[in-house]
Amino acid sequence: MIGLDLVVGGGGFIGSHVVEGLLAEGRQVRVLDDFSTGHAHNLDGLDCQVMEGDAAEESTARAAAADVERIFHLGARPSVPWSFEFPELAEQANYQTTLSLIAAAQHHGIRRLVFSSSSAIYGDAPKLPKAENMQPAPQSPYAEHKLQGEVALAAAAKDFGLESVSLRYFNVFGPRQDPSSPYSGVISLFARWLHEGKNPTFYGDGLQTRDFVFVKDVVRANLAAASVPLSTPARILNIGCGRSVSILDLWATLCRVAGKETGEPHFLPARQGDVRHSCASIARAQQELGFQPQFTLEQGLALTLGFPQP
Ligand code: UD1
Repeated sequence: MIGLDLVVGGGGFIGSHVVEGLLAEGRQVRVLDDFSTGHAHNLDGLDCQVMEGDAAEESTARAAAADVERIFHLGARPSVPWSFEFPELAEQANYQTTLSLIAAAQHHGIRRLVFSSSSAIYGDAPKLPKAENMQPAPQSPYAEHKLQGEVALAAAAKDFGLESVSLRYFNVFGPRQDPSSPYSGVISLFARWLHEGKNPTFYGDGLQTRDFVFVKDVVRANLAAASVPLSTPARILNIGCGRSVSILDLWATLCRVAGKETGEPHFLPARQGDVRHSCASIARAQQELGFQPQFTLEQGLALTLGFPQP
């Protein structure tokens, strides 16, 4: 009998890639998604069950988790600016979902949950690279909610033995990332502007740095996190590349990969809660998951733009 996994947020950008990865491993998959930011078409051609509903509702989470072996929790509204604008909705989407899935895991006796957490938790702690043993310094509701989720998972490990891995993603990018909102991930927005022949907008001086990690590498981290033996029951692991690039350089790299001119940049004030520098230490993920990113930024950008991998 092939095991069944629940992917919460499976209709989203990262979630749909995780579904694909699990199916390729021969797993059965059930998706729970409210399609608030995800899209049913992201699951086209993928042989999985789909439940439409809000994971923050305990009854929905419980129904979705019936007969499930493992939960992959990627249900979120992943945006720092949106969390400032709608803090209550953000709490519902980014924290209540975690509580509700923990309750569902307890009810059904599910052993392991893989949680999509965020590097935003580190805030502007000056030390680089960011390592998991550093003091969290969240500077947005989004970061707070992700941190609270990790804390709740640690409590669940103590209370009823739930094994969990919180993957602190740095900046994930790749095909299917949705550029339709002003809050969308910077690479999805840049790729669209490039395609439309428009000039980029930089928030601040563009010299802030980010550690961009390609979505297929994030999928491999999820698959490993669901199956490896854990050194402690509630693990926290960074998932990035261990290299960072400024946003100005990111645009230049994207233009180079696409063979286009960089054009005239447009600068706007820095965003509230925007972290200045971000770069992951991935030593712990390497040790515990055997995680090693396989895609360079250029390779990932080419695949995102739909070009052959350089
Ligand atoms: C943050 C988190 C990330 C989380 C994500 C959820 C950090 C370091 N990273 O990403 O882990 O998953 O929130 O949304 O906290 N920018 C521009 N022009 C644009 C768009 C963005 O200059 O048109 C800049 C932003 O100001 C930011 C950078 O590009 O400095 C990256 O922005 P974005 O892709 O939105 O992600 P983060 O806010 O870094």
